[in-house]
Amino acid sequence: MPRLAIFASGNGSNAQRIAEHFSGHPGISVDLILSNNPAAYVLRRAEQLGIRSEVFSRDTFYHTGSIPALLQEGKIDFLVLAGFLWLIPADILAAYPGRILNIHPALLPKYGGKGMYGMRVHEAVIAAGDRESGISIHVVDDRYDEGKVIFQARCTVTDQDNPESLAEKVHQLEYRYFPEVIEKFITGRP
Ligand code: GAR
Repeated sequence: MPRLAIFASGNGSNAQRIAEHFSGHPGISVDLILSNNPAAYVLRRAEQLGIRSEVFSRDTFYHTGSIPALLQEGKIDFLVLAGFLWLIPADILAAYPGRILNIHPALLPKYGGKGMYGMRVHEAVIAAGDRESGISIHVVDDRYDEGKVIFQARCTVTDQDNPESLAEKVHQLEYRYFPEVIEKFITGRP
């Protein structure tokens, strides 16, 4: 049975939707939620969901090798980044080649890259006057937001939208599609 770990830096509303989607699933489980932020609300969600969580520092993440060890000890098969803001280091990429998915709240390759996350993305889309935005789900490599895109969904941007209302539209797309895209990504593998 494939096991997932979710990395999240903040609120964790996507992490919660993913965990709920796989709760009671016969073939896939969410076993671990990891965060770089000890104050992240996702940790409260993990507790309420009854899922083990771990917090790590920047030094632990980049310099100790203890995250791959923790994942392997938990027999984790796939990693999902759901609002996680740090670049994944080489040791984790090597342990999970082609097995890490990220969601980005815009239509990549637009509005990706370092520093482009959360509300900053929606503010940039509104400032540019784009008439559409959406979500991109991609395989993670060693650069921000550049791995192969496996799924996109779109929403309109109107004159009435502001960054907050656009964020809400994008979140609705994320909740609707991210869990099922993860499921298909895992179950559709050879
Ligand atoms: C989501 O909209 C996700 O796409 C975005 O952060 C938000 C996290 O919300 N990720 C990025 O911007 C990554 N560059 P959540 O914590 O409520 O799931």
